[in-house]
Parts: sequence; structure tokens; C-alpha cells
Amino acid sequence: MSKDPSNPNENTEQENTLTNRQGHPVTNNQSIRTVGNRGPAALENYDFIEKISHFDRERIPERVVHARGAGAHGYFETYGKAGDHPVAKYTRAKLFQEKGKQTPVFVRFSTVIHGNHSPETLRDPRGFAVKFYTEDGNWDLVGNNLKIFFIRDAIKFPDMIHAFKPDPITNIQSSERFFDFCACSPESFHMVTFIYSPWGIPANYRMMQGSGVNTYKWVNQEGEAVLVKYHWEPKQGIKNLTQQEASEIQGTSFNHATQDLHDSIEKGDYPEWELLVQLMSDGDHPELDFDPLDDTKLWPEDQFPWLAVGKMVLNKNPEDYFAEVEQVAFGTGVLVDGLDFSDDKMLQGRTFSYSDTQRHRVGTNYLQLPINAPKKRVATNQTGGQMQYKLDRAPGQNPHINYEPSILGGLQEAIQHGKEHTPFVEGNLVRESIERQSNTIQAGDTYRNFEEWERQDLISNLVADLSTCDTRIQDKIIALAHDADEEYGRRLSEGLATTATTSGSNQKPLGNRDGDKAPQEAVDKG
Ligand code: HEM
Repeated sequence: MSKDPSNPNENTEQENTLTNRQGHPVTNNQSIRTVGNRGPAALENYDFIEKISHFDRERIPERVVHARGAGAHGYFETYGKAGDHPVAKYTRAKLFQEKGKQTPVFVRFSTVIHGNHSPETLRDPRGFAVKFYTEDGNWDLVGNNLKIFFIRDAIKFPDMIHAFKPDPITNIQSSERFFDFCACSPESFHMVTFIYSPWGIPANYRMMQGSGVNTYKWVNQEGEAVLVKYHWEPKQGIKNLTQQEASEIQGTSFNHATQDLHDSIEKGDYPEWELLVQLMSDGDHPELDFDPLDDTKLWPEDQFPWLAVGKMVLNKNPEDYFAEVEQVAFGTGVLVDGLDFSDDKMLQGRTFSYSDTQRHRVGTNYLQLPINAPKKRVATNQTGGQMQYKLDRAPGQNPHINYEPSILGGLQEAIQHGKEHTPFVEGNLVRESIERQSNTIQAGDTYRNFEEWERQDLISNLVADLSTCDTRIQDKIIALAHDADEEYGRRLSEGLATTATTSGSNQKPLGNRDGDKAPQEAVDKG
């Protein structure tokens, strides 16, 4: 029998009937309510006001870095061992113990510097952040594709990002600002060498490596720790682009990496990565020419072999980009029992920064969102704040006891399993950089390890961008390249000398622009 809309007692709603957020059926979604069909609008038009004011708030602040991203769900499966050893020898983290054990994951890949919707062909590190929903709660491994970073002290991060992001006046990214910062921060030269080579433009997200970059610790049942670095190796192989290849792709698509990830998962061609670790005994290691807590350095593979510990498969696309990829919140502080921090100064700074920005970007209760909430019981006495929509209460918990300790009930502290890792630390409180800086040694190794086409692309990319810079900056970068490797320095200075005589620069160095002069001087020049 068909429904009779004139009968007020008959429910005319179907499963797919449009409603507003209050659950009221929307009978007209085409016209706002007006006095006559040409007349002024009535302000009491709730459906319209709700719809338009929600739309007005559709965007949240984009990430201050890594704004452009793509994500996918999948699982991690452990091998139960690290190389030839049972993994328990080094860590008691439950997700790694039992061979074949699967842990759900959500991964977000990203570019770093430009905004959401910027091209995915840009020369930039790529983010590689993994959220493991373990039985002990969440573990986030927030990494990049490259294994090292530009700086080794967290206090330099905001300056570095300001220099790399678009100029505050022109809103255009400037090579000169980038190289100015790098020339004055020689620890960045190893990363500059990678970024200006084809390794600075991965072909897509599926065919790139990942790395935790910073040094963490693994802690075993006895509370003993080892230092650990994490690496992801793509089973699809690694593919990078020359600048020319990237420019060609960018001419036809600026979403190619997102498209590639989405399409391959959609057609059942699931990308996989193997997780490998490098381990080092906990300590300063004075025998090394670098500090194990310095994230501008690679750990040589011959001394610290890569040990395979598991694999990750991505097999499901997000159902909603905003709810999952945009609202997901990763942080280096999110560890589970058996995993710990090291004193790596970047790691310590990052660990404050992530949850701080997420309370601002997503909101106080960001951990209650399904993409961020652990897939296990949560019971806290934290309550209130914008957008709280549930209580983190234990079943049967006395609702009056929202504090701890109490003899009347409420939540109880957990029992510690395994000995706590309690490193002994002493020293004066100082503001100093580390001693073993070795800023250019590994950049030289990396240059020599490149194939000839990679070296050529590196030199031509550096020449193209450095030729737009103040010569004082060029000279400093050439000196760093010389320190790293004689051939590297020579090819770079020859390349720059050629551009100086043939073309001149297509971009005036900032130091020569009127904007750098005192305002009156700039005006006087007319
Ligand atoms: C994102 C800070 C270094 C990898 C972010 C965000 C901040 C931040 C504030 C935005 C987070 C959000 O809105 O959810 C810092 C600071 C650093 C630092 C202060 C240095 C002191 C690094 C390093 C890596 C890295 C060394 C690589 C290992 C990432 C990734 C994301 C990110 C992958 C995007 C996560 C996502 O997809 O949501 N970082 N970062 N960051 N950072 Fe860092």
C-alpha cells in the first residue's frame, strides 16, 4: 500500500529521507523560506541556518606542516623475531612477540611544506606516519621517507619551516630563503644532498621507503634497553623521479600519488612494506664518528644490520577523507609498553609538539574520534572540553568517583608488567650542541653512493636553485659540498660558474631587493 502524505499519522520517512542534524525531515532543500517567492528571507529558517553555518565551518586549520596527505587502512603482521633472535630479547612490546600476530593500522602519507591540494610532485620529504591499534593501546610511528633530517635540535624547527615555506611577503617559496637557512645550519647538508637528488621526489607513495628517523629505545622484560631505528622497505620496489619527469607529471596531474594509492587498493593490488630495525646498545658510543642520537646521520648498515621484524599491508581505502585522513592525529609520544624514548633532542621536542598542535587543530577531545581512539577499553577521569561526546568510564564504575585515589571506588592504577627502564642521567643543565657533529662526512658517502644519473640530477637541481641565491650563500654551500667530496664541490662550483656567465639569474637574490633596505632608502630610489 502506498503512503498517504495527507495522513498526519502516517510516517512518510524512508531510510534515505534527507533530515537535518536534529533529525527533522527536510521537505524542501531547493528554496530558502522567503516572504513571497521574491521576498526577503526569514531568519527563523532553521534548516537553512543549520546547513549554511555548518558549511561555514567545514574546514579545520590545516596541519602546520604535512598538510597534503593520503591515507589507507591495513594491518601489520609480526615475524616474532628480530633477525635471528626472538624479538623478546630486545622488547616486550606485545605486538611484536607472537609470529603471525596481526595488528590493525592506519597510515597517512604526506608532503611537508605546501598546503592541502598542492602538487604531489614537489621536491620535499614525504611523511610516512603509521598508527598501530595494538592490544596495549595505540603506537604511532611518525616517520618520513628519508632516513635522516635537516636539523638535530627541536628549537630550530619553527625557523627551518619558516625558511622553507613561502616568503611572508610574496607567498612564493624561495630557494634563497631555503639555502640561506641551510648554509647557516651545516648539519642540514646531508639532507640537502638527498633532497636535491631524485630521492627528493619519490615517484608515488607506494614505491618509497619509510623511516622513524629519530632514535627510540626498545625495552625488554628485565627493563634493559637498546637503541633502535625503524625502517620501512616497499615490496613494490623504490622509484624516484628526476626533476624533468616530475615536471612532466605535474603538467597533467597534481594528485598523482593520492590517485595511485587509492586506485591500487581499489583494484586489490595492496601495497606492502617490510619493517626492519637497526639496534645499537644503549650508550654514547664514543668509537663512532657520529652521535647515535643525531638524526642527521645514517647508522652504517655493515655495523648495524637491518633486522626484519614484520610486514605491513594496506588493503582498505578510507570511507571519508575528512573523518579519517584529515582528523587523524599522530604523535611521537604515543608509545606502548616495551617501546621508549631516547634522549634524541628532536624526538623530545617533537613529542611535545604533536599533541599540542592536535588539541588546537582537531580539538581537546581529538582522542575520542574513531580514527584516533584505541581499539581497546579506555577508562580515564578526563572529562569536559569542547565536543566531548562520551565518558571514558569503566563498566559499572561509580559515576560519582571521577578522581583517583579513592576508597569509595573509581578507577585503579594498572599493574606494572616487567621491570621499568630507569636510565641514570646527570650533568649540568646547558644550552649546547652535541660534540660529534661530522656535518659533511656522510653527505660525501651518500654522494659517492649515488649512481651517475642521480649525481647529474643532484648537481643540475642544485645549480638551478642556487643560481638564484646571494653569492655568499652559494659560496657556503659550495664549501660544504667540497668538504663532503672533492668532485661534488667541483661539479657544483663549475655548474654555478657556467650559469653566472651564460644566463644570469631569473630571480633577484633577496639580499639585493629593495625590501631589504631601510624603508626610506627604498622609497628614495623611486
Ligand atoms: C606533522 C612538528 C620533525 C614527521 C607534524 C606536525 C607538527 C610537527 C606540529 C603537524 C601535526 C598535526 O597537525 O597533526 C614537528 C617538530 C619537529 C618535527 C616540532 C622537530 C622538532 C619531524 C621529523 C619527522 C616528522 C624529524 C620525520 C621523522 C612528521 C609527519 C607528520 C608531521 C610524517 C604528518 C603526520 C600526519 O600525517 O598527520 N610535525 N615535526 N616531523 N611530522 Fe613533524
